[in-house]
Amino acid sequence: MKVAVLGAAGGIGQALALLLKNRLPAGAELSLYDIAPVTPGVAVDLSHIPTDVKVKGFSGEDPTPALVGADVVLISAGVARKPGMDRSDLFNINAGIVRNLIEKCAATCPKALIGIITNPVNTTVAIAAEVLKKAGVYDKHRLFGITTLDVIRAETFVAEAKGLNVDNVRVNVIGGHSGTTILPLLSQVEGASFTEEEVAAMTKRIQNAGTEVVEAKAGGGSATLSMGQAACRFGLSLIKGLQGEANVIECAYVEGNGEHATFFAQPVRLGKNGIEAVLDYGKLSAFEQQAMASMLDTLKADIQLGIDFVK
Ligand code: NAD
Ligand code: LMR
Repeated sequence: MKVAVLGAAGGIGQALALLLKNRLPAGAELSLYDIAPVTPGVAVDLSHIPTDVKVKGFSGEDPTPALVGADVVLISAGVARKPGMDRSDLFNINAGIVRNLIEKCAATCPKALIGIITNPVNTTVAIAAEVLKKAGVYDKHRLFGITTLDVIRAETFVAEAKGLNVDNVRVNVIGGHSGTTILPLLSQVEGASFTEEEVAAMTKRIQNAGTEVVEAKAGGGSATLSMGQAACRFGLSLIKGLQGEANVIECAYVEGNGEHATFFAQPVRLGKNGIEAVLDYGKLSAFEQQAMASMLDTLKADIQLGIDFVK
């Protein structure tokens, strides 16, 4: 198994690389790429950790050497928010970065599973799909927007609020990855019940959690450590699926059946070819139905922006 991290010298990239160095299966390879010249040094640093995972680092303008033979590519290259910004404010810079990196993936590792972290995820995933289509290699089962951070936040906050063991709390988060498009399905959490006020407050907290970190870091960036953890969980699940493990399920922003929007975050079962099945997320409460209805225009506009950018 070879995992490439693009944006590997950044806040998320370094945390993710450290976690993967410790948690990838024995014999795996970790390939780190970033335009920052420090990247080969990050790889040397990690290579002194005694695990059976080989690490190589690449910098410069061309990610190709890092992508050769990659089974999984995780992309966190790009700029992060500062206080007062929305994720959509990152579009002008990050759209081009994602487009260029995906062009290289299409040429070098067209069968790789690609997980996109770079914001605005609602739009960058649509950009990636269009670029892969142009190159004639798009497979909707192999492209993912990584929304696992919303899931781990929901699980953490619910466990804290309800005094539950977080290891046993599972929360599906559907929709997209910004503001009101983030919809945690609190009505389905086993072993926890919420009043209407609690549902409204908890939903808002989960939707605003990215901003909570941006404001707390006060100009020093957005979530990096929790995102490293989330991307590691998601990347390891992709690998478990590739290795044939049964019943590997994660929420991710993917092209599903198009019922709500072309791309939609929902639970998927992962397998040897990426998405094995898009899973039903169950019955929504009245609150959730209303939240779903009011997010769709925003989500569809975010997706269209990505499509138009590539066309
Ligand atoms: P960062 O600034 O710490 O790191 C970004 C890295 O990308 C830098 O090392 C930079 O050199 C590199 N980079 C820039 N252009 C590049 C290119 N063309 N090729 C390769 N590398 C390039 O930022 P960060 O905190 O790691 O955040 C990265 C992105 O992840 C941001 O867009 C942020 O909004 C997003 N993010 C997404 C989620 C999510 O839930 N999906 C969570 C947190 C952050
Ligand atoms: C997050 O949810 O923390 C990320 O999308 C980063 C951000 O800008 O909020």
